[in-house]
Amino acid sequence: MIKNFVVVGSGKGGVGKSTVAVNLAVALANFEKLKVGLLDADIYGPSVHKMLGIKDKPSASKNKKMLPYEKFLIKAMSIGNMIPEDKAVVWRGAMASSAIKQLLNDVEWGELDFLIIDLPPGTGDIQLSLCQTLKISGAVIVSTPQEISLLDVRKAINMFQKVNVPILGTIQNMSFIEINNKKSYLFGKDGVIQESKKQKLNFLAEIPIFHEIPISGDTGVPLTSTKNSCLDEVFKKIAKDLLKSIEKNKNLNIEINN
Ligand SMILES: Nc1ncnc2c1ncn2[C@@H]1O[C@H](COP(=O)(O)OP(=O)(O)OP(=O)(O)O)[C@@H](O)[C@H]1O
Ligand SMILES: [Mg+2]
Repeated sequence: MIKNFVVVGSGKGGVGKSTVAVNLAVALANFEKLKVGLLDADIYGPSVHKMLGIKDKPSASKNKKMLPYEKFLIKAMSIGNMIPEDKAVVWRGAMASSAIKQLLNDVEWGELDFLIIDLPPGTGDIQLSLCQTLKISGAVIVSTPQEISLLDVRKAINMFQKVNVPILGTIQNMSFIEINNKKSYLFGKDGVIQESKKQKLNFLAEIPIFHEIPISGDTGVPLTSTKNSCLDEVFKKIAKDLLKSIEKNKNLNIEINN
């Protein structure tokens, strides 16, 4: 049984959804000692397998279901290892949605406190069908502070609200880069913080630009799995605040129509 489904989305591409989803899943398992799964719902551009350093195809259980990968104290599933790296998935929306359903239903997830779902960019078929078929505890919204990102983020927030998925919190990624004790705000300053205030959304944290992040993604070792990394403090806070936000939403007794 899976107790809570949490989606990590944005609307905008390339803003750090997968980086946050992977590090959040590992942080919840490592720091909060929870049973956590991670599902890569980005069928067209999967990256979770790479970020976790998983190279093999999944194996089957006795009941002919797929066994999730187990690494860094989490369970994970991504279509990334089932298709050749240089081949594109050329499926229409309905096929992609049914592939996601298979990754949910035909994988032996076992008992999980959380299944974190890394969403693809946009507000398309995959996002909608997931939100309408699962009782989602809530969404974590990731964006850079830039207005161009926020344009798409507003659409994603609107989509989640339309399908009654509560927004658990927002994360401002790539907030600034610090060189010689001087911060540079490459993508503008505090765009996500201001948007969160305007829309009365729970702001979870800001993540600076760290050169360790792309290295960790490419080498397949999430920073939250290593001791004293640059993401330690921020993801401890995100994990704690997220749990509080989920409890608060449960107490509000929000009705979910799916
Ligand atoms: N805070 C950060 N500092 C430095 N690099 C970052 C940071 N966050 C993400 N990145 C890098 O930015 C790139 C995009 O990140 P990621 O793949 O997590 O984004 P995404 O939103 O999931 O993208 P997509 O929409 O393609 O799925 C990656 O190369 C990642 O390593
Ligand atoms: Mg991604």
